[in-house]
Amino acid sequence: MTDNTAQILSRKKEHLELCKTDEVLFKDKTSGFEHYDFVHSASTEVQIEQIDLSKKFFGKKVSFPFLISCMTGGTSEGENINLQLAEVAAELNIPLGLGSLRFALGTNEHDEHFKQIRSAAKTVPLLGNIGGAQIVKMKSFKELFHLLDKVESDVLVVHFNPLQELLQKNGEANFKGIKKSLEKLIKQSSFPILVKEVGSGISKKTAQTLLDLGVAGIDVAGAGGTSWAGVELLRNKQKDENQFWDWGLPTSYCIKTVAELKKKNKFMLIGSGGVDTSFDVAKSLALGADFTASARIILQSLVKEGQNGVVSLINDWFEDVKRIMFLTDSQNLRSFGKQKLIEKKDCF
Ligand SMILES: Cc1cc2nc3c(=O)[nH]c(=O)nc-3n(C[C@H](O)[C@H](O)[C@H](O)COP(=O)(O)O)c2cc1C
Repeated sequence: MTDNTAQILSRKKEHLELCKTDEVLFKDKTSGFEHYDFVHSASTEVQIEQIDLSKKFFGKKVSFPFLISCMTGGTSEGENINLQLAEVAAELNIPLGLGSLRFALGTNEHDEHFKQIRSAAKTVPLLGNIGGAQIVKMKSFKELFHLLDKVESDVLVVHFNPLQELLQKNGEANFKGIKKSLEKLIKQSSFPILVKEVGSGISKKTAQTLLDLGVAGIDVAGAGGTSWAGVELLRNKQKDENQFWDWGLPTSYCIKTVAELKKKNKFMLIGSGGVDTSFDVAKSLALGADFTASARIILQSLVKEGQNGVVSLINDWFEDVKRIMFLTDSQNLRSFGKQKLIEKKDCF
């Protein structure tokens, strides 16, 4: 193991430990879902037992419009968590995001583990993950594609995390040339490419730029849940007031504004960042997300309640989503995305 890999793995370990706590949450900013209410329909005719929540995710039919966000890997605990989440994803028939694969570039050390993950996940979509800060430095993407083949990834997710890199000790806050690199990657890739943030959100303008470069999907990963500035500040033992802790565009705002681009662009919109309750899930979908996703809350549920806990959590969320669809006269997900929310400021 090189010094660099050792450093990455030790950082991942610290990230995992910190994200098991609530210390890493945004302090004053929220994802903004609380500003919305559903439009109650007293005249609903929806047959709740006939609501079908299944949806295609890049060609594969999954049971819910929900995926487990990219988290971890590399360390033995991280690999164990991924394996457990792969079994959860298979049981629920939902996609699973893997954490950054950077640590596995150029080595065969993790091949056996990747085989185990694919076998545990059965046929559900797996999302490989790499940082924008890494692709910008790559002269060739051959190694990355080889790695994605080993993982049998369905999709490649590239995370753009300028705030985290900026505050991270030895972070790589140099994204010069990122758009050109992404464009090149998209042209050469046989995998659909999604771009995500990690908790600071993606604006409508950035989303349009990414779509013009050819991305197949955008995960806004907005502000209001896990603060990655917070994570890095805690790692740096900087607990004092720091306004960057709460930096970012709230998730609900990102979903609402980026969804407007669907009129002229074909892409998958994923709503995430502080999606921690069934109502957050439902509001993400009603605001225009095709899929919604969560990270930290899933990790915490796994640690506290085990795999059955995560399965129950997600099943319960979608039972509530069905109830909300019933009460808003939405027989299917398509109609749920149309004018089912009201901003609270407009009704009081
Ligand atoms: C322990 C942990 C590790 C993470 N590692 C990655 C990663 O390797 N790549 C990535 O794109 N996002 C990573 N994330 C960010 C999440 O995918 C997500 O975008 C972010 O935490 C906001 O979602 P949340 O509020 O539901 O946690 C990680 C999140 C957690 C909790």
